[in-house]
Amino acid sequence: MKKHSLKTFIYYLSFYVLALSSTFAHKNHNSVPQNAPQLKPQEMQLFTINEFYKDKVKPIFQKKCFDCHSQNTQYPWYYKIPGAKQLIDDDLKKAKEHLDFSNDFPFGGHGTPNEDLDAIEDVTKDNSMPPFRYWILRWDSRILYEEKRIILEWVNRSKAALKEKNK
Ligand code: HEC
Repeated sequence: MKKHSLKTFIYYLSFYVLALSSTFAHKNHNSVPQNAPQLKPQEMQLFTINEFYKDKVKPIFQKKCFDCHSQNTQYPWYYKIPGAKQLIDDDLKKAKEHLDFSNDFPFGGHGTPNEDLDAIEDVTKDNSMPPFRYWILRWDSRILYEEKRIILEWVNRSKAALKEKNK
């Protein structure tokens, strides 16, 4: 009984958050709540978290990770330098084998959503992405402190929601 009412509470809370966010985010006005009420509470939680991803995390990834981990590569000018092309192509191939952010979460690479989250958590915590050799060429690609906080908050919330879903 208690568990049930907690779920109901979470359900309404998520809905409230969604309703509020759609009120304030004018540009997403039509895209958010339409199909929301048919979702189960656990799905609703994931849904809310994906909105968080698209709103807060994806813009960071777009700026700093998409060149290697998505289909939208902006090739640098030195791509044309003999030798560089080969190195960059190798990197891109390897990067996408590990993780492809072209789709929103769950990314649907070879890892499970939880494995992807763990890997993202690791590289974010130890600052190992983007790779060091890339920093030298693109000094503006480092993850800033505030961005790190946002990514890790999203990772934690997603993990909690996935755990809840698999209960
Ligand atoms: C210059 C290309 C490049 C950029 C930019 C880049 N990565 Fe990577 N990433 C790679 C490559 C290459 C690999 C494969 C492993 C390796 O060689 O280190 C990889 C692997 C990973 C992995 C898997 C690690 C593992 O242990 O399986 C994660 C997670 C990751 N990247 C996240 C990110 C995130 C998040 C960003 C943006 C902040 C990012 N990467 C930016 C090239 C890149």
